[in-house]
Amino acid sequence: MKLLVIGSGGREHALVRGLAADPSVTEIHIAPGNPGMATQAICHPEFTALQDPIAVTELAQKIAAELVIIGPEAPLVAGVADSLRNAGFAVFGPSAAAAQLEGSKAFAKEIMQAAAVDTAHAETLLPGVSPKEIETALNHFGPTYVVKDDGLAGGKGVVVTTDRATARCHIEEVLALGNPVLLESFLDGPEVSLFCLVDGETVVPLLPAQDHKRAYDNDAGPNTGGMGAYAPLPWLPDDAVARIVEEVCAPVAAEMVRRGIPYSGLMYAGLAWGEDGPAVIEFNARFGDPETQAVLALLRTPLAGLLNAVATGTLSEHPPLEWEPGAALTVVLAAANYPAAPEIGTPITMPTMPSQQSDTAYILHAGTALNAAGELVSAGGRVLSIVGKGADLAAARENAYALIKEIKLAGSFYRQDIALPAVEGRIQLPS
Ligand code: AMP
Ligand code: GLY
Repeated sequence: MKLLVIGSGGREHALVRGLAADPSVTEIHIAPGNPGMATQAICHPEFTALQDPIAVTELAQKIAAELVIIGPEAPLVAGVADSLRNAGFAVFGPSAAAAQLEGSKAFAKEIMQAAAVDTAHAETLLPGVSPKEIETALNHFGPTYVVKDDGLAGGKGVVVTTDRATARCHIEEVLALGNPVLLESFLDGPEVSLFCLVDGETVVPLLPAQDHKRAYDNDAGPNTGGMGAYAPLPWLPDDAVARIVEEVCAPVAAEMVRRGIPYSGLMYAGLAWGEDGPAVIEFNARFGDPETQAVLALLRTPLAGLLNAVATGTLSEHPPLEWEPGAALTVVLAAANYPAAPEIGTPITMPTMPSQQSDTAYILHAGTALNAAGELVSAGGRVLSIVGKGADLAAARENAYALIKEIKLAGSFYRQDIALPAVEGRIQLPS
């Protein structure tokens, strides 16, 4: 099978690595890709029109791709999957209409309400709202305020604060951009990311994972795209994944079918595990980054065949998934000044000994590029994603952290505590 993957980040490198290990795959193209993928795929660094449905469709035609896998959300929301399907391609990724589950938080709320899925209470404020109306809305929330930009912000448009003035300030900022604001009740409890493959009403969950969204150790600092993740979650009740499928993902998938906008692709449920079980924080219409790097590290089932089953509407006939025992985690190496204004163009020195990379510790590229001199340099905020695997999370941590220490990137930083609260048994379920 000849594949085209769209994207260039750590998530896409994890996908390419998994796809390359599937014996049914003959050739992988990735557009634009990054230098870390060059041994596993043919990169198209000149292709930057990721959100242009016609340009992506022409590329798929040129390559004669048998399956196109779309990594990031922006092309999905822009209708790239629709254009490819109209041209006859098998596509992994939802239609523009279905991708609104991520693209519009207000749409996601409407679907959840119709499907009776537990989520935060929310109120929308539209540009033009008066200061008095803002105060009235704030009175309905607290002591912890959750203020969201109702547009695509890659997890960065959210402010969670106990300070009312900070909440008001973010509301005004978002309104000034001309975007609606979503005020939400605060959902208590540890966060879970559950990725489900969805093909109409068929829902197949992957392993549950947890992201670390704040920039610094002990969840200090600003929200980021994600600084590290681990899977599975030893603290989660045994029936949790089945409950999330039954109470969240399956009802949402059924509601989308009922509305004539069936979902096909990856449904990412971002949840808080509260007193009554799962409550939805957000949906995404694609694999999460960096959770994918940890989850796919443990998948034994050939990945291309699995994604192709979703793309061709045959997921219900696919055999059950197989997983490696043990645990995996990924630690993100971030550029200086991430997430505010990451420094790019800085040379990266990788470990020289090939033995330092193995099946239990390896490096995935995210924001990297080659400069004019052919040297590997940083090209984004999240530069590399280091994966460690082991019999348990503690062993996986040792493997990942031993490897990340060998990488040199001036000014870079990473969190030291990925999966540590889980290893130390410090994650409390509300009761
Ligand atoms: P989002 O962009 O909706 O994924 O939000 C980013 C992060 O903000 C989430 O991963 C949570 O950590 C936090 N967050 C968002 N909404 C809520 C909420 N209603 N209650 C608690 N935390 C939230
Ligand atoms: N890990 C968060 C996201 O992919 O949105």
